[in-house]
Amino acid sequence: MTSEADDQIICIIGAGYVGLVTAARLAEAGREVRVVEVDADRRAAVAVGLSPIFEPGLDELLSAVVASGRLRAVETMKEGVAGAGIVIVAVGTPPTHDGEADLSQVRLAVDQALAEVAPGAVIAIKSTVPPETTRALGRDSTRQDVTFVMFPEFLREGSALEDLRHPSRVVVGGEDVAAVRRVAALLGGPDTTRLLCDSVSAELIKYGSNAFLATKISFINEMAQLCELTGADIEKVADGMGLDPRIGRSFLGAGLGWGGSCFPKDVRALETSAGYHGQSFWLLKAAIEVNSQQRRRFTAKLLRGLGGSLEGRRIAILGLAFKPFTDDLRQAPALEVVRQLEDLGAQIVATDPVALDRARSLLPRATLVADPYEAVTGADAVGLVTEWPVYRELDWGRAIGLMRGRLVVDGRNCLDGTDVTEGGGVYVSMGRRTRGLPPQAPGSTAEGVYSSTVPPVPLG
Ligand code: UGA
Repeated sequence: MTSEADDQIICIIGAGYVGLVTAARLAEAGREVRVVEVDADRRAAVAVGLSPIFEPGLDELLSAVVASGRLRAVETMKEGVAGAGIVIVAVGTPPTHDGEADLSQVRLAVDQALAEVAPGAVIAIKSTVPPETTRALGRDSTRQDVTFVMFPEFLREGSALEDLRHPSRVVVGGEDVAAVRRVAALLGGPDTTRLLCDSVSAELIKYGSNAFLATKISFINEMAQLCELTGADIEKVADGMGLDPRIGRSFLGAGLGWGGSCFPKDVRALETSAGYHGQSFWLLKAAIEVNSQQRRRFTAKLLRGLGGSLEGRRIAILGLAFKPFTDDLRQAPALEVVRQLEDLGAQIVATDPVALDRARSLLPRATLVADPYEAVTGADAVGLVTEWPVYRELDWGRAIGLMRGRLVVDGRNCLDGTDVTEGGGVYVSMGRRTRGLPPQAPGSTAEGVYSSTVPPVPLG
């Protein structure tokens, strides 16, 4: 055990998404950072300044801070925590079978850190943990000279570094005010809003933020369905609602719904936590249900657009990552949609600018190709799943010319449809009118073919 805790030295446990980006940012801001990582491959990559994940700007920053000696990847906790004033726990809290957060990695990291950490150090929990976890860790600690705080993370994949350089807020919760202040000083500048509170509130700020945003998306997706039933346009509705500063336009993007490593896990964990306290959090149950319905609605649009059968039909899927600018496929809507389509007999050709390597083992039945034009060649329909700019900027006239059919279902409302219809395609989106159909006789139900009522077929 080292004798003095120095806040200039930061130890981060876990070189996962949050750990790695936070480490790089803190080193960039001038701290001496050590990342404790058990996975040898990950550690080796970081040691030479290479990011094991795709995140814009991270490779460049990592190589700079590793070269300058301010960031080191280490194997043992002893090396990691020696002299560190602040130890940040950024290990995973994956969902258990029951939807709870599995805290075993957090507990192990804390136990190992407590055995080595300098007196006076603060252990900051950055992993997303259920209410009362941080307090319990402090209560059960074998070291009364070490303080615990909750230090929730709000960064988004794809813009993680920018989020850390200019945080919307820094939240730190704990019972020891001095420790809370030490951790709050790590991120942001003089103009950053810092919210200091108790640890349980900090835990709930994290869960509440993700759950609220996810609910907002599910709300707009329900509205999108009503738009389809009434002939309104969800993009106009969202624009109009979003102009109210109390509502705001962000996270009113209708489409395939939320995925990723955070929203699905955190919404369920919050709902489960509430359940333990005897509360039925109905709103979250509904948000989860609507989200899973969105995938089925998208599949239904393809099914109906192709005349009710997908047997032997070839469908091109554009985008696999759970959102653009990441190669993360965790809980990606694409995985669910591809499986549903395959179960209905379709042959899938999928493409993504960065996620193909990760997708290979997850989608063994699908053909994966790098070039979007190759993906659409000979396709009966195209399903746009991830709103990568490259798909928005596609030469849709050319793409439709390469297809066998002409149906394009935009699961993210990221095209305005004109490119598709001018190229001779039929454009179907989420919560907006179908475009590109030949004019119909009054009373005709042709548009109904492309509508998105969840079909009565089993869709996974
Ligand atoms: C989310 C939060 O936004 C971060 O603040 C938080 O720190 C992070 O989780 C976490 O807990 O670590 P992230 O998972 O990177 O960040 O992704 P988001 O940009 O929030 O998107 C989540 C999902 O919602 C994506 O699948 C996205 O496509 C979907 N989404 C987003 C919509 O369907 N509509 C929208 O309007 C916005």
